Amino acid sequence: MTSRDAPTHAESKAIGTHVPVMLQEMLATLGPRDGAMYLDGTFGGGGYTRAILERAQCRVWAIDRDETAIARGAVLAAQYPDRLQLLHGRFGDMLTLLTEAGVQALDGIVLDIGVSSFQIDDPARGFSFMTDGPLDMRMGRHGTDGRADNELTAATLVNTLPEHELANILFQLGEERASRRVARAIVIARAEAPIETTGRLASIIRAVLPPDKSGHHPATRSFQALRLRVNDELGEIERGLAQAALLLNPGGRVVVISFHSLEDRIVKRFMTEVSGRAPSPSRHDPRGLARANAGSSRFRLVTPKALRPGAAEIATNPRCRSARLRAIERVGIAA
Ligand SMILES: C[S@@+](CC[C@H](N)C(=O)[O-])C[C@H]1O[C@@H](n2cnc3c(N)ncnc32)[C@H](O)[C@@H]1O
Repeated sequence: MTSRDAPTHAESKAIGTHVPVMLQEMLATLGPRDGAMYLDGTFGGGGYTRAILERAQCRVWAIDRDETAIARGAVLAAQYPDRLQLLHGRFGDMLTLLTEAGVQALDGIVLDIGVSSFQIDDPARGFSFMTDGPLDMRMGRHGTDGRADNELTAATLVNTLPEHELANILFQLGEERASRRVARAIVIARAEAPIETTGRLASIIRAVLPPDKSGHHPATRSFQALRLRVNDELGEIERGLAQAALLLNPGGRVVVISFHSLEDRIVKRFMTEVSGRAPSPSRHDPRGLARANAGSSRFRLVTPKALRPGAAEIATNPRCRSARLRAIERVGIAA
């Protein structure tokens, strides 16, 4: 299947795939060229990786923390034996993963933050309140080469955290204004019996929150908060961006597609700062990279304003409606 005849959203639901979001915008921004080396830090269903490999005679390293995504990717890797390498792990560890694989620098990096349709649509993964399943929400469930990925599940959080900590997570990561009410309801319910399923958690939340005007399920924000916390997703973005900037060759670009305002805020701030646009020091830059570069601006902001999906894409794939694409380019002359 080529990127041009990728399945529509409806088809993909039927055959169980992930429709790549803003694929053409990603390709146009990354600009794959022959002989270059790229990283797809969020392999997922491999839609981006495949499109990059088809666009140019380049090499791609692809990372995913979900072992099932890496296992599925074996088919694609077999089609590109000399050009595609899959790595199981977190993009927040990309520097270590790539260095261990002998890669020092890259000509472009793409991160498509969040969960894939494979993950959301599988009730056993526990990401969705639409279907009943175990309250898990881990993107990666097994260790990577001896490195434990994630032992923490959403069930552990809701059944063990003190009420005020639970409320803080729901407020900060889910922007749930009724966080205290939801946390209280969870604590009362778990005293009767541990909350083990997505269905039970969703009904506990629905019982104390009226449906909101947007038509979203009242559990949407709480589920988002728990997922972000279980996978430390915001921390991963901070670590991934700092390392991506260190790995980039001159002329190379980091392209990030995010889906939530909390994620996009981190991406926007980092990119603005490393490109010397913002005077304030970053809270999201553990290595101090942004400050080090703010004066010399080793990076150029490619997208002063985030790109958004077009109306046609939103119509065929409603899940993409909140996507934002941002990119920076390492300044200098490409080899
Ligand atoms: C939105 S999907 C990517 C879809 C992909 N671009 C495609 O076209 O099929 C996100 C994927 O990134 C993975 N992921 C999310 N956070 C990650 C992280 N910190 N490190 C590695 N993989 C991550 C998820 O497991 C999921 O498979």
